Amino acid sequence: MDASTRSQVAAALARSDLNAVPLEPHQFERIRVIAQRRFGLSIPSQKLTMANNRLVKLQRRLQFADLEALVLHFEGPASAEDFLQLFDCLSTNLTMFFREADHYDVVVDQLLAPIRELPAQARPKLRFWSAGCSRGCEPYSLAMILRDQLGDLSAWDARILATDFAITELQQARSGVFPVRFVEDLDPELVDRHFHKEVQGTETIVRVNPEIMAPVTFGLLNLMAPWKMRGPFDAIFCRNVMIYFSEETRHQLVLRFEKLLRPGGFLFLGSSEGLPGEHDDLQRVFPSAYRKK
Ligand SMILES: C[S@@+](CC[C@H](N)C(=O)[O-])C[C@H]1O[C@@H](n2cnc3c(N)ncnc32)[C@H](O)[C@@H]1O
Repeated sequence: MDASTRSQVAAALARSDLNAVPLEPHQFERIRVIAQRRFGLSIPSQKLTMANNRLVKLQRRLQFADLEALVLHFEGPASAEDFLQLFDCLSTNLTMFFREADHYDVVVDQLLAPIRELPAQARPKLRFWSAGCSRGCEPYSLAMILRDQLGDLSAWDARILATDFAITELQQARSGVFPVRFVEDLDPELVDRHFHKEVQGTETIVRVNPEIMAPVTFGLLNLMAPWKMRGPFDAIFCRNVMIYFSEETRHQLVLRFEKLLRPGGFLFLGSSEGLPGEHDDLQRVFPSAYRKK
């Protein structure tokens, strides 16, 4: 399509009604196949309406004449950037600070308590991975726990890797800025300790303190692709991510996580997610929390 046709199409699309362009069932099926193959996502049929609206917006942004052209694009030669946009359309990113807080208690009791009082020269390095971190609440919650338990984190070699494939969420995460509603249900003392409130125009926002941001490194990673990290990690959090994956994909992912854990390291899954398949080396220590033997 040449540039002038593209801009005519874009103008026509901008005038049209979003909901007037239904995704055909066969097109939805083809998008589901792509999402499964590329991102591991099994999109349930109830998500047809959501997918429809988001895909129409993507079709406009990428300036395709219709949804069929968009689907063909992703079945064919779409660029890595376009696939990122498709993932943004299809993923579910709901998150919150201290979600499933019992898991942080496991970290405190079983991982941090035994090392908390060690003198500086005897302190082990600590490595965590939040896999599917969305906009960063999970890795920042973990950093707050580490700060509250271990004191000044610059005196520890503690790092948290936080990855996701949703680029918009990662941008938000890296900024460390959240609408104030994200902290409304948290202990006010914790909020005072780790956030800075600011009024921006009509909106109140909270900013995560620099010492909490410091140990966290964000990265773009499709969990279905090869990983560069070699580990070993003390704990991996992959919570509420694999709910949209098939049993076999979850099983394979857990095997990959297992390899990257040190002996005695922890794997945390979402509270509604059991361990898929047989994993003899992982011992359940709490609901949805496993320790590598
Ligand atoms: C519902 S959020 C959960 C966030 C956080 N772990 C929590 O429990 O609050 C699921 C996240 O998994 C990410 N995700 C899903 N499939 C992924 C994949 N194939 N690669 C990387 N991230 C993925 C989504 O982008 C989303 O941000």
